[in-house]
Amino acid sequence: MMDLEVETGVVELPQPESGFRPHWRPKRHFTPAKNWMNDPNGMVYLEGVYHLFFQYNPGDSVWGDIHWGHATSTDLLHWQEQPVALASEPDGLGYIFSGGAVVDWENSSGFQSGDQPPLVATFTHHSKEEVQAQSLAVSTDGGLSWDKYPHNPVIPNPGIKDFRDPKVIWHRDSGHWVMVLAVGDQVHFYRSRDLKDWVFTSGFGRTSGAHGGVWECPDLFPLRDADGEERWCLLVSINPGGPNGGSATQYFIGGFDGEAFVPEHEDIRWLDYGTDNYAGVTWDGLQRVDDRRLFIGWMSNWQYANKVPTSLWRGAMTIPRELSLYRDKGALRLANAPAREVDEARRRVVSMPLQPGNSIALPGNSALDLVLKIGGAPELELEFSAGENGGRLLLALSAERGALLLDRRESGWVEEGFGREISAPLAHALHGESELRILIDGSSVEVFIDDGRTAVTALFFSSAPLSHMVLCRADAAVPFVLYRL
Ligand code: FRU
Repeated sequence: MMDLEVETGVVELPQPESGFRPHWRPKRHFTPAKNWMNDPNGMVYLEGVYHLFFQYNPGDSVWGDIHWGHATSTDLLHWQEQPVALASEPDGLGYIFSGGAVVDWENSSGFQSGDQPPLVATFTHHSKEEVQAQSLAVSTDGGLSWDKYPHNPVIPNPGIKDFRDPKVIWHRDSGHWVMVLAVGDQVHFYRSRDLKDWVFTSGFGRTSGAHGGVWECPDLFPLRDADGEERWCLLVSINPGGPNGGSATQYFIGGFDGEAFVPEHEDIRWLDYGTDNYAGVTWDGLQRVDDRRLFIGWMSNWQYANKVPTSLWRGAMTIPRELSLYRDKGALRLANAPAREVDEARRRVVSMPLQPGNSIALPGNSALDLVLKIGGAPELELEFSAGENGGRLLLALSAERGALLLDRRESGWVEEGFGREISAPLAHALHGESELRILIDGSSVEVFIDDGRTAVTALFFSSAPLSHMVLCRADAAVPFVLYRL
């Protein structure tokens, strides 16, 4: 973490707003030391280091004057905040909106100036006049420092208001770079040989997916299904229009030939039914050493992101998740489960069968990972409480109704429409070995059923840390393991 400014030996902290609680800061999820953060950007892996850039306002804890902040990690759970990577000034082209970054292994851009391959970031310049155009920045020192390309923008604005968030990948079969860009409530694809000259190839989305809001932060990548066949996944965030209000991320599965995407389903699919997993994208560069597709999202929602009561810092990322395909009732779907680094880091605190009515004390001051074997009891209700008047969260799972409910109406801070019951249809059929996994860290809860086949991510701001979990209702005893992260 970056040091807080120290003056003559005294740490100067801005005065927190009344109600601020230090326990809201997650311990194993990235948060900036201070000020505002939204989307993850430019996620790129090089030589053992995961780089995470993010939408950052270094001068305030609300959205504005957007830069790219930067953090690094070698295990995806402990993050080191680095100096700002890309500032909105002095070129006058505007704020540095979202985008991606790639390792240009073959130096197709010609930007290499030493032994290391250049890292090339693609992002949106958002000008004072609110015109959006796509630009480049280059790092020749492995991601530590960045220079904006002097001939920015590389894709000028064609007269479209919402024209942003370029994510680039190398498309092996056609031997060119592909950019997916959010344009209004659709995406556009472009291709390039050198990352500098881009040619439009196709649009997608006019007649597919959800259209309750503007499309943002797309990502495109291949995944293998259980038979080893390659499929293409397209992630598209949308705001508003999410299944539980405001911001959410939809996905499409289909084919991509380097120029156009063809979906293989007509229904709308959501990556996460929670209110607080937005603008998530995946890491580039990892595929050389590891065939996992790792994802991080921003844990907030534009409905209240600027108002959540953490005040000194605003914005946290989700736990890193691995995306994978699974088949249910004949259809291919996308699962998102905690990356195996989370499993490797956790330490068991207790393992026991829980009987209906049992209460478990939750260890304080730690991120927690709770695993319940629900196969035998698919109708259950859990209460997480923060002591008397501290707030509570209720979680109910009903296999019969095929639904998971997370009720945060009494969880503490409930302004700005935050106090609501979040409901998720189960994306898949439960079975005898089904597992419910709940990660709790600071002000976040992430619920996964069966390796992320159903996922619900939500913030909550209880006035004290959650101290107890009660199994209020269940059909039978529930095997339970509690880990610290
Ligand atoms: C998504 C988003 C992006 C944009 C960025 C601005 O949350 O609206 O579309 O680039 O945030 O900070």
